[in-house]
Amino acid sequence: MSEIDLFPVPAQWAREARVDAAGYEEMYHRSVAEPDVFWLEQAQQLEWITPPTQAGDWSFDADDFHIRWFADGSLNASVNCIDRHLAERADQVAIIWEPDVPTEEPRRITYAELHREVCRFANVLKAQGVAKGDRVTVYLPMIPEAAFALLACARIGAIHSVVFGGFSPDALAGRIEDCGSKLVITADEGRRGGKTIPLKANVDAAAASAPTLERVLVVRATGGDVPLGERDTWYHEAAADVSDDCAPEPMAAEDPLFILYTSGSTGKPKGVLHSTGGYLLWAAYTHGLVFDYRAPNVYWCAADIGWVTGHTYIVYGPLANGATTLMYEGLPTWPDASRIWQVVDRHQVHTLFTAPTALRALMKEGDAPVGATSRASLRLLGTVGEPINPEAWRWYHDVVGEGRSPIIDTWWQTETGGALIAPLPGATDLKPGSATKPLPGVQPQLVDETGKVLNGATSGNLCITASWPGQMRTVWGDHDRFFQTYFTTYPGKYFTGDGCRRDEDGYYWITGRVDDVINVSGHRMGTAEVESALVLNHQVAEAAVVGMPHDVKGQGIYAYVTLKAGVEPSDALAAELKAWVRKEIGPIATPDALQFAPGLPKTRSGKIMRRILRKIAEGDTTSLGDTSTLADPAVVDDLVANRVSG
Ligand code: WT7
Repeated sequence: MSEIDLFPVPAQWAREARVDAAGYEEMYHRSVAEPDVFWLEQAQQLEWITPPTQAGDWSFDADDFHIRWFADGSLNASVNCIDRHLAERADQVAIIWEPDVPTEEPRRITYAELHREVCRFANVLKAQGVAKGDRVTVYLPMIPEAAFALLACARIGAIHSVVFGGFSPDALAGRIEDCGSKLVITADEGRRGGKTIPLKANVDAAAASAPTLERVLVVRATGGDVPLGERDTWYHEAAADVSDDCAPEPMAAEDPLFILYTSGSTGKPKGVLHSTGGYLLWAAYTHGLVFDYRAPNVYWCAADIGWVTGHTYIVYGPLANGATTLMYEGLPTWPDASRIWQVVDRHQVHTLFTAPTALRALMKEGDAPVGATSRASLRLLGTVGEPINPEAWRWYHDVVGEGRSPIIDTWWQTETGGALIAPLPGATDLKPGSATKPLPGVQPQLVDETGKVLNGATSGNLCITASWPGQMRTVWGDHDRFFQTYFTTYPGKYFTGDGCRRDEDGYYWITGRVDDVINVSGHRMGTAEVESALVLNHQVAEAAVVGMPHDVKGQGIYAYVTLKAGVEPSDALAAELKAWVRKEIGPIATPDALQFAPGLPKTRSGKIMRRILRKIAEGDTTSLGDTSTLADPAVVDDLVANRVSG
């Protein structure tokens, strides 16, 4: 690594940050040498009803598999995010809401108001019959009520399951059914980038195939003309005469806080379950550490609440730390490419946390939309979701941040609850494209295909050898799937599914998924899910889906489709099948390229050789490797000859 690729800690951060380079080393060492002492000490940053006396109690081994943290402690997450701040910051703004349309007024909700709104929401949920342990599906746009709904569930001990507003009625129905929610919280419509999303109509469409669904609570967001049926209640009507106060439910640390569905390499999406105590501590701990957050700085995580980033870094982490968190309804590029920077100026944002895909989209528009704004308030820039290419990193650092702000590249997953590998702004020298080093308490390990541990500067598959409080606890309804998915590839370790390089300075460079998961615009998509959607179409006999490089999305979706006998391939049919997937799953699953294939490359035992399909999708057709084990090697020639571009 040449000197020029190292960005030292900015002087101001080195002076003022809570943790400097020596502090990080000391903290890391202590977290590994004395984990119980370390974690019980960290746990004190939460307010407990019963403070825990035990830290981690876990084993990743098959015969004794269990994960528990702070098991004898009890607390309430909404109290930690709201009530405990009231004495000191009742009038501080907790949530700034920036609307989709820039000429509309933002909303500012103080901690005192947040308390009132969340209590009212909680009382409405109770009146709807929701009790501790019940699952509540949340299908809302990016409006403050989304945060109120989550915290209201947490207040009464209900388990929220947020479904991203971009998912189709079918995808929503599957997620309602899987966790057996009886209540869905939605809105009349959502708005994003000037378009409306028919959320309530989607819930109605989902209801037909979601028999557990009994009631729908509808928040009025756009005021659109939405008819209400027997199962539906307007939130504002239900909230008209409820109390402003709601006693929080005491929760055991291991009681579930939420379920969030995420795609895997096989089967239907998994309901990732997070705990109350361990997850909340991880959210608060990492938000405090990696952003060195101090009130009343304005902090903006430009994610959607439908993804884990929104849960941890818009709602739970910042509010647990008494932050002012900005919630943005719209898109970074609408109505024009400088909107994101206009929002920064309008609200004097100190910390901005966004995704590489957004940066690449903005970068394409050139520097002028950035230069038209001040951005003088920015001090820290974060990224998450996918590997950031050094070019985007440098643009973020030099053009957006004018060299003032460190780039905090956070590596993590829905399963990990919050960041695991990330720099600390006052401690870590940066290298563009590297998430740098593990946070205190995180023990990464690289292994080869056979599970052999690789030391020093090397590349391998990324595992985590010790549990951390924010680790997921189970797959909802399928504990065996949890164990099988994450702990059997390399027995005794949590396997992340990511490939990774570690350099001579101990810096980690995530190289991307090594399984059949693709990362589209920082969102995880299982190839099996897209394939299932395609074969549901009566014209399709078989489908295989792989990732392909995409200059804005990071990865695009490349689908190979074999049609049923008698069905003729055409451009119109390709467009129809792309639209079909979009309708079945949602816009994020739309294939970027679709190639008709008379046959797929299979081994004699019938296994599709995805390695070959990936190479062709990448356009790398000169090094297809050994094709001699294929049942019919000739299919490869046809695939190469008829490759399509995205
Ligand atoms: C996968 C997890 C983390 C919340 C959003 C995505 C990839 C995530 C990074 C990063 C390189 C990253 C990994 C991971 N990923 N962050 N900073 N550098 N890769 O959560 O949908 O659960 O996806 O996203 O491949 O396994 P997710």
